[in-house]
Amino acid sequence: MHGSAKRVRAFPLPLHLSKNPGKFAMRLNNKIALITGGARGIGLGFAQAFAREGARVVIADIDIERATRAAEAIGPAASARKLDVTDLDAIDKVVAGIDHDFGGIDTLVNNAAIFDMAPVTDITEASYDRVFDINLKGPLFMMKAVANVMIARGRGGKIINMASQAGRRGEALVLLYCASKAAIISATQSAALALVKHGINVNAIAPGVVDGEHWDIVDAHFARWEGLKPGEKKAAVAKSVPIGRFANPDDIAGLAVFLASSDSDYILAQTYNVDGGNWMS
Ligand SMILES: NC(=O)c1ccc[n+]([C@@H]2O[C@H](COP(=O)([O-])OP(=O)(O)OC[C@H]3O[C@@H](n4cnc5c(N)ncnc54)[C@H](O)[C@@H]3O)[C@@H](O)[C@H]2O)c1
Repeated sequence: MHGSAKRVRAFPLPLHLSKNPGKFAMRLNNKIALITGGARGIGLGFAQAFAREGARVVIADIDIERATRAAEAIGPAASARKLDVTDLDAIDKVVAGIDHDFGGIDTLVNNAAIFDMAPVTDITEASYDRVFDINLKGPLFMMKAVANVMIARGRGGKIINMASQAGRRGEALVLLYCASKAAIISATQSAALALVKHGINVNAIAPGVVDGEHWDIVDAHFARWEGLKPGEKKAAVAKSVPIGRFANPDDIAGLAVFLASSDSDYILAQTYNVDGGNWMS
């Protein structure tokens, strides 16, 4: 027993024979990936996973200090740029700058978004403007800018939009966020059909509930609207997910790597749930 274990350590199996051949197969070798909102949470998990798979990653976030720290922690494969996705001039400048500095962009992950909460009787114009500016307008004009760069370079690419289970259904207290994510699912379909002739695949990911600062904000909103104690909503939601827990960013990153890789070349206009079975429950 011990002898054979030693042999395995001394002569590791080649990747294609290992138990999990896809795991670190450098599926994104030398790809240039731009991830909005990658300073923390799911986007940061994507940046780490993409770098492990050989990509050069640019984290574009409104919080440049945190994005810079995140990129430094990942190492030389990652860098950070300040970007507010609601600023259309800034989008054009940042995208042109990355295209110039890296020689193109192979993957865009439209990940930056915010959460807000109110029933239809209490929504405000300010909340509408903020949610739709960041969650819809930003991703649409990111797609426009990056798709044009991909078309000009002529080597295709992958665009991954972050939707949500909230985009697939109504939630009494979450009108604006749900509507913004439903719009992302729709925009993914139209953009995919327009860009397929350029070799650009557009797809979306719809997570269920993912632990992190986003859900701390969601929990605080529920505490206010439903008169709950801090943490109470989170605990109840965790129990209701069929798999029995919140996701962490790594649970979502595998699908993002797949959608950014050539393994997904025949896939477009789809929105995939990664939700521990939540949609079925
Ligand atoms: N966490 C969840 O449970 C969950 C579930 C479904 C979908 N999602 C979606 O996944 C994506 C990532 O979620 P998360 O949980 O990591 O969120 P998060 O709030 O932890 O991170 C969002 C990031 O976006 C950045 N950002 C905010 N406004 C910006 C702007 N105007 N310009 C540029 N960057 C900006 C923030 O600085 C932050 O780094 C979002 O699209 C979110 O809607 C999250």
